[in-house]
Amino acid sequence: MRPFVSSPLSRRQWLKSSGVVAGGALAAQSLAPAVLPALEAPNGAPAVVNGQTTLEGFLALEREIEAMRRAEGPLRLASNENPYGMAPSARQAIMDMWKEHAWYNAAAVPTLRSVYAKHVGVPEDHVLVTAGSGDVLSIVALAYAMHGGEVLTPWPTYEGLPRYAESMGATVHKVPLNGDLAHDLAAMDRRHVNSVDLVFVCNPNNPTGTLTDGAKLRDFVTTASKKSVVLVDEAYHDFVTAPEYTSMIDLVTKGENVIISRTASKIHGLAGLRTGFAIARPDIIARLQPCVTSFPGVFGARAAVASIQDTAYQTMCRDRNAEGRAIMAEAIKKMGRRMTTSHTNFVFFDTGMPVEQVQAAMKTKGFLIGRAFPPYTTWARISIGTPDEMRRVAAALPEIVRA
Ligand SMILES: Cc1ncc(COP(=O)(O)O)c(C=O)c1O
Repeated sequence: MRPFVSSPLSRRQWLKSSGVVAGGALAAQSLAPAVLPALEAPNGAPAVVNGQTTLEGFLALEREIEAMRRAEGPLRLASNENPYGMAPSARQAIMDMWKEHAWYNAAAVPTLRSVYAKHVGVPEDHVLVTAGSGDVLSIVALAYAMHGGEVLTPWPTYEGLPRYAESMGATVHKVPLNGDLAHDLAAMDRRHVNSVDLVFVCNPNNPTGTLTDGAKLRDFVTTASKKSVVLVDEAYHDFVTAPEYTSMIDLVTKGENVIISRTASKIHGLAGLRTGFAIARPDIIARLQPCVTSFPGVFGARAAVASIQDTAYQTMCRDRNAEGRAIMAEAIKKMGRRMTTSHTNFVFFDTGMPVEQVQAAMKTKGFLIGRAFPPYTTWARISIGTPDEMRRVAAALPEIVRA
């Protein structure tokens, strides 16, 4: 493989002249050429055909990432990342366009906006591309709830918006989840007083993985959006296969006071490349725009353009995720522990002991799992890795969590 900079110095000479060798092997290792290798499937089979990841390509990726993740140390199962990372098609797109990294005004972001708008079936002026969907949550809090605004949210849920709004001086009304650990829409409706500026819902919900029925959520959001703007966080949209699920994007196209947030971090495996989306009426996008403080990098945008069109990769990730989740569900059932029905890339279950203890014990066995989410302090959230990884987790858990 060719290094980025062709130099008359050998790598060893350069390391020596720059003093890196004196720093020891670790420092030298971290300066390995930063070139992303193309993915090669065995027997020369192409990893990507017409923008779609092939099965051979996916299997080659699986082997590559499993080895890489094992070598990294404790297995990352705490942040709901896609273990497979970016699609081979996305990797190819970055390599093809690598020179763009030097430009502020690369075409990557407008192209992504256009591709994403088409993908979700809205006009381009209904989409704002952001540096991750966490950014959408902050931008919406800034635009609607700063300086004494009021926010209504289920609790526990993804904390990005409520925390940010609180730090900006907003009052956050937290409505406990129902007995199934899903949104209690009736209770939220009762708490939705006229002074509320912004309503947040997350479907499926993080950290519980639970789904709110599409028809019921649509009724709630339609009514709530007559009084306040409603933000529906659909970060896990691409993992859901349940027939009762529907996105709320159609409420945006109907002209309701609704914002949808989506991300390239989950099924597209681009968490580190910070790419997210707000979908809303153009006048709402115009209100959000001045609150934007950063924009996505070109690599994230290029990778997302390729990944969104690579439906084969999304299907393979979704299927593998379902396989890993089923392994976990069976193991948790065998232990006789209560769990939620998850529609995401993580499971949530009651360990019967403080989750910090489970976390520490799992770490000694080589697994990093999620933190406590009060008031569910005995419940553990474990992200789904590859099926093989989940078999290892399923074998380790009963040694820690008592039946
Ligand atoms: C429900 C939900 N929303 C938003 C985010 C933020 O994701 P990102 O900023 O990577 O798009 C996450 C991350 O885990 C999440 O779980």
